[in-house]
Amino acid sequence: MHSSMGRIYDATWGRAFSALYDRGLKATEEAGLREMRAELLSGAGGRVVELGAGTGANLDLYSAAVEELVLVEPDPHMTKRLRERLASSGREATIVEAPAERMPLESASFDTAVATLVLCTVPDPSATIIELSRVLKPGGKLLFIEHVRSEEPRLARWQDRLEKPWRFLADGCRCNRDTLATIAASSFTLGAVEHERMPKAPPLVEPLVRGSAVLGNRN
Ligand SMILES: C[S@@+](CC[C@H](N)C(=O)[O-])C[C@H]1O[C@@H](n2cnc3c(N)ncnc32)[C@H](O)[C@@H]1O
Repeated sequence: MHSSMGRIYDATWGRAFSALYDRGLKATEEAGLREMRAELLSGAGGRVVELGAGTGANLDLYSAAVEELVLVEPDPHMTKRLRERLASSGREATIVEAPAERMPLESASFDTAVATLVLCTVPDPSATIIELSRVLKPGGKLLFIEHVRSEEPRLARWQDRLEKPWRFLADGCRCNRDTLATIAASSFTLGAVEHERMPKAPPLVEPLVRGSAVLGNRN
């Protein structure tokens, strides 16, 4: 948001959102999200870039197969918390304050990209996926957990109706994005994808996809 209203929003609710984020998600994490994150991240290795790392919920779940970790996060309120979490984690990582659509990172230099609950929030998901295809090596992996547009028409209609108020409440998150279609339409090839439910979450953000995609054609 670049308008003066946007700046006021960022300085007030945007700031509060980052402060409340971990507490707001605690029950969901404990009811299964954290386990899903751990399972997903067991597939991360080599040079890893995480998009929209937020407060660092994934930080302690990366294995020793990760040789280098770069955390991309544009929100100053989130990066403050991310820095604190990183400092107390004992893990080495570089925080890059930039949007996922334009990452100041070398082309074809990463083995794995991680996106958890972030493609719902980036202003331009297609540009983000194109940027990812630039920074990943050919054959590089995208690992994702994202809440998405419902496949049930009734819930999808509610997601469309409530998209605006939800976006306002949830710091820019769109509850009705068809993220799988965006990935499928890109230069990534989707691998196995699980369709699940986000535990203990409002119905608007319950439909969840968890899986991976490989840059280029697998054959
Ligand atoms: C719902 S939070 C998810 C945080 C974290 N990935 C997690 O799994 O808990 C969405 C994150 O996306 C970040 N974000 C917003 N716009 C972004 C952009 N253009 N590029 C990268 N991250 C962005 C927000 O600042 C926020 O940290």
